[in-house]
Amino acid sequence: MALSESLSPFCLALLLASILGSSEARDFLVGGNDNAWRVPPNTTDSLNQWAEKNRFQVGDSLVWKYDAAKDSVLQVTRDAYLGCNRSSPVAEHKDGATVVRLHLPGAYYFISGAAGACEEGEKLIVVVMSERHSLRGLATAPSPAESEGPAVAPTSAARRAVVFGSGMACSLVVLGMLM
Ligand SMILES: *[C@@H]1O[C@H](CO)[C@@H](O)[C@H](O)[C@H]1NC(C)=O
Ligand SMILES: *[C@@H]1O[C@H](CO)[C@@H](O)[C@H](O)[C@H]1NC(C)=O
Repeated sequence: MALSESLSPFCLALLLASILGSSEARDFLVGGNDNAWRVPPNTTDSLNQWAEKNRFQVGDSLVWKYDAAKDSVLQVTRDAYLGCNRSSPVAEHKDGATVVRLHLPGAYYFISGAAGACEEGEKLIVVVMSERHSLRGLATAPSPAESEGPAVAPTSAARRAVVFGSGMACSLVVLGMLM
């Protein structure tokens, strides 16, 4: 009996989706160009608008290019982000070519280390999705409204539990047939 015959169409679709869905880790140049880490030219929240257009997943990296003599990148807590508080960052990067690997799902907060820059909009929230192997359509990117709160909404957690559950069942079926 061929492997594919004994798999339900749903299992097959799930396996296919997990293969197709597993993309390589990506590097994201913050703001989309070399001069983006700076005070935005006007009141648009341009860095966060950029972030909302992208889909960040665990394993991806953020890359900043900036003049190290004038600026730096501070990774901070949510409170420090909201208050533009530069006094005790979680991490400080000032090499002019900063790479931050997104190891964990959730929200990451960054502000400029230059005096007054965060207050004028040089700041960034990135929300990182937990799943590399997610089904298209089932996994939804968090809406901008969620980015100030918990990174994963309850509904998407429930969906992921369903996907995980069916994934496990299919894995067991495949495992059973291989033994
Ligand atoms: C603000 O800046 C952005 C990017 O440079 C530009 O596209 C937009 O038109 C500007 N908005 C205003 C109101 O000047
Ligand atoms: C900035 O953060 C530090 C350390 O968490 C805290 O002691 C200080 O009060 C904060 N400053 C403001 C203006 O909130």
